[in-house]
Amino acid sequence: MLDTSIAPDRDARILRGDVLDLVQDPGFAAPDEGAGPRYRVDHLVLLAGGRIQAVLPASESLPPEWRGVPIEDHRGRLILPGFIDTHVHCPQLDVIASFGTELLDWLNTYTFPAERRYADPQVSYQGAERFLRALWSHGTTSAVVFPTVHKVSAEALFRRAADAGMRLITGKVLMNRHAPEGLLDDVDQAERDCLDLIDRWHGRDRQAFAVTVRFAPCSTLEQLAMAGRLCQHHGGVYMQTHVAENRDEVRWVAELFPDARSYLDVYDRDGLIGPRAVLAHGIWLDDDDRAVLREHGAQIAHSPSSNLFLGSGLFNWRQAEDAGVAVSLASDVGGGTSLSMLRTMHDAYKIQALQGQRLTAWKALYTATRGAARHLGLDDEIGRVEPGLMADLTIWDLAVGEVARHRDSLASSLHERVFAWMTLGDDRNLVSTLVAGQTRYRRPG
Ligand code: GUN
Ligand code: ZN
Repeated sequence: MLDTSIAPDRDARILRGDVLDLVQDPGFAAPDEGAGPRYRVDHLVLLAGGRIQAVLPASESLPPEWRGVPIEDHRGRLILPGFIDTHVHCPQLDVIASFGTELLDWLNTYTFPAERRYADPQVSYQGAERFLRALWSHGTTSAVVFPTVHKVSAEALFRRAADAGMRLITGKVLMNRHAPEGLLDDVDQAERDCLDLIDRWHGRDRQAFAVTVRFAPCSTLEQLAMAGRLCQHHGGVYMQTHVAENRDEVRWVAELFPDARSYLDVYDRDGLIGPRAVLAHGIWLDDDDRAVLREHGAQIAHSPSSNLFLGSGLFNWRQAEDAGVAVSLASDVGGGTSLSMLRTMHDAYKIQALQGQRLTAWKALYTATRGAARHLGLDDEIGRVEPGLMADLTIWDLAVGEVARHRDSLASSLHERVFAWMTLGDDRNLVSTLVAGQTRYRRPG
């Protein structure tokens, strides 16, 4: 279908390739049994005004006004919606791949010292630039991001993402205890900073504010109550935090909040859990917690790479899904060891395999694109290759290198090919990334 409301502008472009997206949730059905992908071989994707205008078979003739617009030939390559990473820490590129600790030690030994540097505006701006470029160079075009406690670190991300026309959800981190000097805020100043950021950034271009509680141990009751008020009084803001990631952490939360029914309840009783809540990990939740998440339409940002690297535990995706809980996928760098959502997907596959469950490429891809878009309330903007949606797109080689090319040559079904891509591939497979129709990454060479 062609939306003729936008004629091709100066930035108009046409991509030619094999368009793949996942429109329906395949669940945990076998690859050839659940909802399959929408696979449009040799199609043209017409882009103008930052949006997808039409998707047509290449064999069809172009509408007259589009003739003469350059066609970028990617025949034999996949054109996919950009990935959505629902939980990642910008400053933690400084500590990715740090040796030898579990969560609480890892925070104290590596993460907190690194995050202190972001008080310096120059460090924050350079960090935001490096981080967003790194996301694009891994095929991620939208993200829910933790900066640091410093207001300037959120400001830097908003500014750089807005300049690029990128969908970004972030907010200054709230933490007023159990962290070193230089990483602590106070409730009143934090509230003022959040209100100012909401006022200036929330809903501006593609930016959205998230009330960002680091995790329960780092906030006093007073600060959690303030965070709850922000969520309640500012419609449309998101909430992001960590929950039930590691067993020592869960024990510590029980000591710190003896009146709470559970770790999740610490957030729920202050009104932090709603349809726009994104909670990383959720490995050690119970049935009542899952019911609370389902009732509120909140999502778990499953972070498989981080869970393996920090030795946190095996998230039972099927159990969450059966309880009606929304699940998205996240890199959680720097607990996670790669910004690549392909690597995130194949780590997710292995975590489910250890529990006797198999994650299809369709389910993984759906979750990292349209599934996340739906859970974030952004389904009419991102997650599919569909006229009217933003032109956040990625172009991929299915196989790079001798081993992958050999494996691809022997595949007999589309799922087999795409699963091998998901399992063997990474950022080397990425040819280019478009954000709002502009190329933000192109593979060198
Ligand atoms: N819990 C509190 N802070 C963090 C963090 O930075 N990373 C992870 N993985 N868990 C956390
Ligand atoms: Zn995290």
